[in-house]
Amino acid sequence: MTGYLPHSDALKRLANKLPKTELHLHIEGSLEPELLFELAQRNNITLTYADVAEVRAAYQFSDLQSFLDIYYAGAAVLITEQDFFDLTRAYLERADADNVVHVEIFFDPQTHTERGVDIGVVIAGLRRGLLWGEATFGITNKLIMCFLRHLEEQDAFTVWEQALPYLQEIDGVGLDSGERGNPPEKFKNIYAAVREAGLPVVAHAGEEGPAEYVRSAVDVLKVSRIDHGVRCIEDPLLVAELAEARMPLTVCPLSNQKLQVYPDLADHTLKFLLDKGLCVMVNSDDPAYFGGYVNANFDACIEALPLTEMDIRQLAKNSFEASWLPESVKADYISQIETLQI
Ligand code: ADE
Ligand code: ZN
Repeated sequence: MTGYLPHSDALKRLANKLPKTELHLHIEGSLEPELLFELAQRNNITLTYADVAEVRAAYQFSDLQSFLDIYYAGAAVLITEQDFFDLTRAYLERADADNVVHVEIFFDPQTHTERGVDIGVVIAGLRRGLLWGEATFGITNKLIMCFLRHLEEQDAFTVWEQALPYLQEIDGVGLDSGERGNPPEKFKNIYAAVREAGLPVVAHAGEEGPAEYVRSAVDVLKVSRIDHGVRCIEDPLLVAELAEARMPLTVCPLSNQKLQVYPDLADHTLKFLLDKGLCVMVNSDDPAYFGGYVNANFDACIEALPLTEMDIRQLAKNSFEASWLPESVKADYISQIETLQI
């Protein structure tokens, strides 16, 4: 493969250096094993793992649920405001190293409130971390609260009511956790209430669930972005409609590989969707569990897929177009992406 390698190295250098946003990141999924052990010790929690190597060895997943079981167990070490701050700071250090300049991160309040951790403690720690990232690196941010879709809509209403005193700290609402058997329509009423309160909404759809779930997230929940969405390709008309609307899909390639959506990254549809004119971009989802942050995702895609220099620049541009940044800021970054040379 001589001749291919230098080209792919140059593309990686470009992808790594371009300014980017990250729009699909579960902050609990950025808990690296080292911090997991540190927080367990600080909070007197006994882990079932002997050491960091054993934790990493356990990160082999057969599907989304097999990951979620380990992910929710890991989140149990997060208890105090300082824990949530430390978690956010660690993520932003990694984001800065990848030239991510703006983040829109998810958190799962129900994972914490059901263990007796107050939602106000969670939000205070995350917000302090985000402020630190802005002051230290200039990384701007949005915070998105997600409902767990394996629970009932009534549970989502309960956590929404708990969040009401902190609404000025929350920039949007999303939907995550086990997708199969939990269609977007299940959350129709709570999404109507959230939209009524003036917040933008997003939802995971078409990760493991069918293309229909992508359609109902758009039509019923009225989302402004789809998280994952890769299974939309099973409905060519839907693909055309998503392209026409420039409805963003926050694609997470290494996540899809590790959760066996596309066990071989060479089969990933990122390039296909980009060629169809969809507003797709590259995100890390749960980087501590899936093998890397945004640049690692770019590197893996450059190795596995026939991406061109124009594709790399387009993915970075899409990450700004799909963000909730002001239009003038987006335009500024997009022109930087068009002109940056390596
Ligand atoms: N929560 C954390 N990561 C998730 C994913 N990839 N899909 C659904 N829910 C999640
Ligand atoms: Zn996700």
